[in-house]
Amino acid sequence: MSEAIDCIVREAIPGDAEQVLKLLNETATQTGFMTQGPEGVGISVEEEAKQLASIYNSLNNSVFVALVDDKVIGIASIHGSDKPKIEHIGDIGIVIDKAYWGYGLGTLMMEELLLWADASPVLSRLQLQVQERNTRARHIYEKLGFKLEAIIERGVKDEGQLLNVCLMSKLI
Ligand SMILES: CC(C)(COP(=O)(O)OP(=O)(O)OC[C@H]1O[C@@H](n2cnc3c(N)ncnc32)[C@H](O)[C@@H]1OP(=O)(O)O)[C@@H](O)C(=O)NCCC(=O)NCCS
Repeated sequence: MSEAIDCIVREAIPGDAEQVLKLLNETATQTGFMTQGPEGVGISVEEEAKQLASIYNSLNNSVFVALVDDKVIGIASIHGSDKPKIEHIGDIGIVIDKAYWGYGLGTLMMEELLLWADASPVLSRLQLQVQERNTRARHIYEKLGFKLEAIIERGVKDEGQLLNVCLMSKLI
């Protein structure tokens, strides 16, 4: 970590919708690591606000935001299904604005997410998919106890290149 940074991490509320969409759209093209590309997220601020309201009250879905000077610079999420047979599985996603990489914020956000998941009465398995070449993200997941379950060969295509994807999980 190069220096300390003043950052607040908290659960997202509907009023964050505009900034959340802005960050998702901006970070979609900052790296080749996101599934989203230049096409963007493609939903309106109103739809996003509705989703955030429903997520806020969910037992197996959560979104956390990281704020620096009131600006959303990071998003970490758990997505769980409403189907009873798979409601115990939470899919993890995380992104930090590239300008704020390397300050420990990715780790901090994942730790907050894991605390929330531990307290959830529904979740018992967390899983995620990460490109094999994304060594920075894989390092954080491994550090926090995620295990490699499988390599999904040609799991994603970026700029015409077929890339392997790691399936990682953590039982909680
Ligand atoms: C992955 C991501 C969230 C990490 O955020 P961050 O704030 O930079 O993370 P941190 O500062 O907490 O930690 C970075 C860690 O990676 C390590 N690291 C840095 N570069 C690395 C590399 N090339 N290979 C392995 N580890 C690396 C650092 O040493 C640090 O580890 P440490 O805390 O044990 O010293 C951020 O890079 C990001 O948003 N990437 C784009 C989106 C993405 O890839 N999301 C995950 C998709 S599954």
